[in-house]
Amino acid sequence: MPHIRLATLDDVPALAALEAKSFPYDAMSARSFRRFIKLGEAEVWVLQSDASMLTGYAIMLYRQATKLARLYSFAINHPQRRQGFGSQLLKHMEQLAQDEHSLFMRLEVKADDAGALKFFHHRGYQDVGLKTEFFDDHSDALVLQKQLHFFDSERTPRQVPYLTQTTPFTCGPTSLMMALNYFGIEYANREHEELELWRESTTIYMTSGHGGCGPHGLARAAHKRGLDVELWVSESGPVLLDSVRNADKRKVMTRIQESDIAALELAGVPMHVGDYYATQLEQDLADDKLVIALISTYQFDQFKAPHWVLLTAIDDDFVYINDPDEDTVPWQSSAVRQYLPIPRETFSRAFGYGSKRLRAALVLGRKPINEF
Ligand SMILES: CC(C)(COP(=O)(O)OP(=O)(O)OC[C@H]1O[C@@H](n2cnc3c(N)ncnc32)[C@H](O)[C@@H]1OP(=O)(O)O)[C@@H](O)C(=O)NCCC(=O)NCCS
Repeated sequence: MPHIRLATLDDVPALAALEAKSFPYDAMSARSFRRFIKLGEAEVWVLQSDASMLTGYAIMLYRQATKLARLYSFAINHPQRRQGFGSQLLKHMEQLAQDEHSLFMRLEVKADDAGALKFFHHRGYQDVGLKTEFFDDHSDALVLQKQLHFFDSERTPRQVPYLTQTTPFTCGPTSLMMALNYFGIEYANREHEELELWRESTTIYMTSGHGGCGPHGLARAAHKRGLDVELWVSESGPVLLDSVRNADKRKVMTRIQESDIAALELAGVPMHVGDYYATQLEQDLADDKLVIALISTYQFDQFKAPHWVLLTAIDDDFVYINDPDEDTVPWQSSAVRQYLPIPRETFSRAFGYGSKRLRAALVLGRKPINEF
C-alpha cells in the first residue's frame, strides 16, 4: 500500500527533482518548496510507493472566503504513472478539502496535456476557464474545477426552483419569486413581476444607484401575494438608514418604511424585533417554510454589499441558499447557485448587514386553508 504523508524539509531535493521532470515548462524551485513547508503557506503532501521512493506529491492552498481549495501542483513520477497512484493521491487531497469544508477544488492544467486533462475530467473536474500564456513557456492553461459538496437531495427532495436576478437591485424580488414559484403562486409575467415587486418593496435610496428592497417592503409584497409571512428584524422601525448620508433622503426612506410597517401591522403580520437563530431556521425549514435573509456579500467577494438570498435547506454543516445573483461567487453556473452550500459558520458571519449588523429574515409559508 502506498503511504501518503505531509512533506518535511528532507523531502525538498526529491520534490524539486520530481517537479523539474514533471513540469519542464514551468518548474517551481527548491526554495519555493522549502518556503511552503517551513512557513506552512501551503500543505505539501507526498506519496511513497515504498519506503525509499517519492512517487508523487500534491500542494494545496486554501482560500477561506470563497471556500476554494487550490491544487497548486500535482504530479506522479513518470515511470510509475498509470498504476493508480494519481487517483489515490487525488482522493486523499479531495478528502482533506472536504474536511476543511471547501466547496470546490480548482487547478490549472496545461491546455495541450491530453493525458492529464483526461485524468481530471474522468474524476469529475470541469473546464471553467482558459488562462492564455499562463506558464513560463507561454503555453495556455485550462482551469479545472470540481464541486466537492452537494445538497443531499435524498434527504429532502430538491424542489425550490431557481431564478437569476436581471438587475443589480432586484435580489430581494427574485428571491421572493423563487418562493412564489415554490408555493405555487402564479404571476403573469416574470420580467414585469420582478420590477413590480421591487417597486413595492424598495427603500427608495440605499447605497448608490437604485434603492434595494427593505425587509418590511418585501414582507408586505409577499403578504399581498397570498403568502403566510413572519418577519424577524434585529432593530425596530425603519432600517438601513445609515447607508445614506443625505438627511432628506433618509427622511424619504423613513416615510416609505413607516408606511410599510403600518400596512403590516394592519394586516396582522407578525413582526419580531430580535435575532433569528439557526435553531429557528431549522424548525421553519422543517415546517416546509422558506426564508429570505439579508446577508453582506463581504464573506464571498470582499465588497460589503447588502444582498437578499433564499434559504432552502440546512444540515449539520451547511446552510443551502438559492443565490439569485450571478456575481456573488462569479464562476458558478446557475445549477450550482441553486442549493449552494454555505458552511454554517460562514453563513452566520455573512448574515447581517451594515455597521449595526442588521439581521433580517422573512419566513414565508403557505396560508392555512381556512384563511382563504
Ligand atoms: C495526471 C497524472 C497525475 C496522473 O497520474 P497517474 O498516477 O498516472 O494516474 P492514475 O494511474 O491514477 O490514473 C490514470 C488514468 O488517467 C488517465 N491518464 C493519465 N495519463 C494519461 C495519458 N498520458 N494518456 C491518456 N490517459 C491518461 C487515464 O484515464 C488513466 O487511466 P488508464 O490507465 O486506466 O487508462 C500524471 O500523469 C502526471 O503527473 N502528469 C503530469 C503532471 C500534471 O499534469 N499535473 C496536473 C497539473 S498540476
